[in-house]
Amino acid sequence: MAATFTPRSILVTGGAGFIGANFINHFMPANPDCRVTNLDILTYAGNLENLKGVERNPCYRFVRGDICDAPLIAEILAAEKIDAVVHFAAESHVDRSISGPEIFVRTNVLGTQVLLEESRRHWQGGVVPEFRFLQVSTDEVYGSLGATGYFTEETPLAPNSPYSASKAGADLLVRAYRETYGFPTLNTRCSNNYGPYQFPEKLIPLMIHNIIAGKPLPVYGDGLNVRDWLHVKDHSRAIETVLKAGRLGDIYNIGGNNEWKNIDIVNLVCDLLDGKLGRQQGENRRLITFVKDRPGHDRRYAIDAGKIKLDLDWEPSYTFEQGIAETIDWYLANREWVADVTSGAYREYYEKQYGDRR
Ligand code: NAD
Ligand code: TYD
Repeated sequence: MAATFTPRSILVTGGAGFIGANFINHFMPANPDCRVTNLDILTYAGNLENLKGVERNPCYRFVRGDICDAPLIAEILAAEKIDAVVHFAAESHVDRSISGPEIFVRTNVLGTQVLLEESRRHWQGGVVPEFRFLQVSTDEVYGSLGATGYFTEETPLAPNSPYSASKAGADLLVRAYRETYGFPTLNTRCSNNYGPYQFPEKLIPLMIHNIIAGKPLPVYGDGLNVRDWLHVKDHSRAIETVLKAGRLGDIYNIGGNNEWKNIDIVNLVCDLLDGKLGRQQGENRRLITFVKDRPGHDRRYAIDAGKIKLDLDWEPSYTFEQGIAETIDWYLANREWVADVTSGAYREYYEKQYGDRR
């Protein structure tokens, strides 16, 4: 990768969530001279425990706040002389978007617009010599594939859930800011992430959590929906690569070259945990329960990540065997983290320390 940009002070939004925290934990040691300001409102999905490794680093600052709060964003951009925004903050769970879409539009669409607008003013103010805004998005904006084919960066947007529609709306605003104001943007679209610190509402951590607890494993529909799985550490490295070397205005798909049917993943996690928990072979599979399908359930996602490989020399380094085994071990070693996030116990501490900003 030929880096063209060396950030000095970045604003990471949603850095207390799953991918944002993994990104900060990856980025800070690799870029010791860059300041990192983490703006996160700490919803149910945000947890500062995820950032214990960096919280004492003098280059790190946490601000509890809302991406929809324009004066706050303006203040941070100016005070920290921010030269790059890496925008992760979002409502991220498809099932929650089906039962309550409004907050998805507020956070994902309006929040992105507020960040874009304040960033544009800051960039046009000329406080920093160079600036870029990286929008972290999802392959779900492309809709659903049949048995064959891959999403490329040219695939038309066809989102099917309120979540993916809100992410597509945000991506279109990013495009509009680039076209209208010449604002320097980058847009990444990745497949399903897995790894440490993922809230146990998404497939892999939910299954691990329920197996450990001996609870039923809900598999939606026939279990034959396909997802491409990307280790969050590979994703973090890809974001860093795009931030430093991506071509302004471009979109980059990021994938794991790793397609799995849901039921095959669930079976694999069951079998690995039989061994690790000392249970009889096949015992965990008995917990599998096929349940009513998710409405509008996308059948298959698959990414053509050829562009980022060709242009920026990035490709995933984890094999799924290694990644899933490490992830299961992490959840086994961090049962207290899981208990705290599922009970919400950590929230009381935040309310005391930062006040309730919701
Ligand atoms: P997450 O739900 O774990 O974390 C989201 C974070 O955003 C939380 O810390 C939350 O407190 C914060 N947040 C929410 N609303 C906010 C607001 N109004 N102001 C400030 N902070 C706010 O999500 P994630 O899985 O880490 O996903 C991060 C990004 O990556 C999202 O934009 C998501 O759409 C995208 N993405 C995720 C995946 C995946 O597999 N998890 C796949 C593709 C794309
Ligand atoms: P999820 O982790 O919610 O990610 P996304 O919907 O963004 O792809 O779900 C991954 C796949 O697993 C998806 O096809 C839905 C399915 N799924 C289940 O079968 N059971 C579950 O309990 C969950 C959370 C998901």
